[in-house]
Amino acid sequence: MKKPNMIEAKKRHTNNTKVLEYESVQNKFGKNKKYFVRTYGCQMNEHDSEKICGMLESVGYKRTDTVESADIVILNTCAIRENAHDKVFGFLGVLKHIKDTTNKDLLVGICGCMAQEEVVVNEILKKYSYVDFVCGTHNLDNLLNIILKEIETHKQQIEVLSYEGDIIENIPVIRESKYSAWVDIIYGCDKFCTYCIVPYTRGSQRSRTKESIIEEVKKLKSSGYKEVTLLGQNVNAYGKDIYDDYNLANLLSDVSDIGIERIRFVTSHPWDFTDEMVDVIASHDNIMPYIHLPLQSGSNKILKLMNRRYTKEEYLKLYNSIRTKVKNASITTDIIVGFPGESEEDFNDTLDLVNECKFDGAFTFAFSPRENTPAALMKETVSEEVKMDRLHRLNEVVNKYSNEANRKMKDTIVKCLVVSLSDKDKNKVCGYTENMKLVNIKGDKSLIGQIVDVKITDTKSFSLDGEYIKM
Ligand code: 5AD
Ligand code: SF4
Repeated sequence: MKKPNMIEAKKRHTNNTKVLEYESVQNKFGKNKKYFVRTYGCQMNEHDSEKICGMLESVGYKRTDTVESADIVILNTCAIRENAHDKVFGFLGVLKHIKDTTNKDLLVGICGCMAQEEVVVNEILKKYSYVDFVCGTHNLDNLLNIILKEIETHKQQIEVLSYEGDIIENIPVIRESKYSAWVDIIYGCDKFCTYCIVPYTRGSQRSRTKESIIEEVKKLKSSGYKEVTLLGQNVNAYGKDIYDDYNLANLLSDVSDIGIERIRFVTSHPWDFTDEMVDVIASHDNIMPYIHLPLQSGSNKILKLMNRRYTKEEYLKLYNSIRTKVKNASITTDIIVGFPGESEEDFNDTLDLVNECKFDGAFTFAFSPRENTPAALMKETVSEEVKMDRLHRLNEVVNKYSNEANRKMKDTIVKCLVVSLSDKDKNKVCGYTENMKLVNIKGDKSLIGQIVDVKITDTKSFSLDGEYIKM
């Protein structure tokens, strides 16, 4: 058993990260069996789940969409806020019931960020003996061996490293979409914002080599992908750990030269966002004008307590430079309310900044203390009631501006990558504009997979309506 250790996880161990090839498992122990994977959290996790599916299918497992028909269920978990935990523990209850009643042989496993948390693993050891295995984020490539060990020994397997693993290339992957693909460019994060658990659960910053990224994008393009999203907890730090003079601006420019139709990237940290990056985004047609730029707070006092390393003035300068240089850009953000020490005045500073920026959208959160992070130990906590009240007031302002931004698009003709049938109306399809707005489109399903012209006919807070127009 290897258990996580949060003190160890804080240390940075990356002097000798190696780049290794995935070692495939020959034993086809998943033959005639079915798997079910549920994903919580961010895009990194969504892509990790594609790797989990890829590994499971490589030993014979087939996918199923119901837990009742599954032989193995894997929860790829998120640790970012307490409610992410609650959802996972709630679903574990459902799985226990299945194991107790209809399928006692069901294998249940936990991967992802919760697997990296000491409190979670201790809880699993104490109260969740029916969880068959736990596999951490740093040794995900070893998942199949961990499952096999549990099958052979019938003993609960806990395999979590508290130091960064090597970078493993060519893990098998089953991609969710045939048109839009995730591509990892950097793992981990070294920023240590005081509220955030990611530097502990995902380890230190480790960039993939530019050659592996470029090769992956070339392959995706030749197999028909229209869009790639370059992924990292902080993509703007790309290259810092392995190159002296090659950064995200250079990578974006090289990926753009491959000629794939659409390039996106998430998530950005304002501190590492250089003018050069803004210029590259502005000057390449296939780099999409959509930037997710987490603000977190509009109060300089709170930004300092959060260890964000920028002031609201510096944020605004970057924000305005993107607005000015990148044509038709949409900019979204993340904001936390109720951080320890946040006074009404600090909160009003946040509202002021939102009023000034008029974001296209914002993900808003109530502060949730996370195990072992500095903010969890801060004394001046804000009551749940005040947090909820601020969240509500913030959301009203945020929604007003998303509505406004969307309304400006009415009657315009925009390019959409059509990705699927619409969830709301099966006679429609849905797609994304270049600036990442979701559009429900009157049009035939044969449009799926194409980039088409769409006239925006109506707008709402979180989506647009449109109709396909033949040019
Ligand atoms: N509490 C509330 N929100 C958080 N986030 C990260 N950590 C916390 C926390 N402890 C939010 C930040 C981040 C987004 C992914 O989640 O806004 O940008
Ligand atoms: Fe959640 Fe962060 Fe882990 Fe993603 S990296 S799953 S957002 S805790």
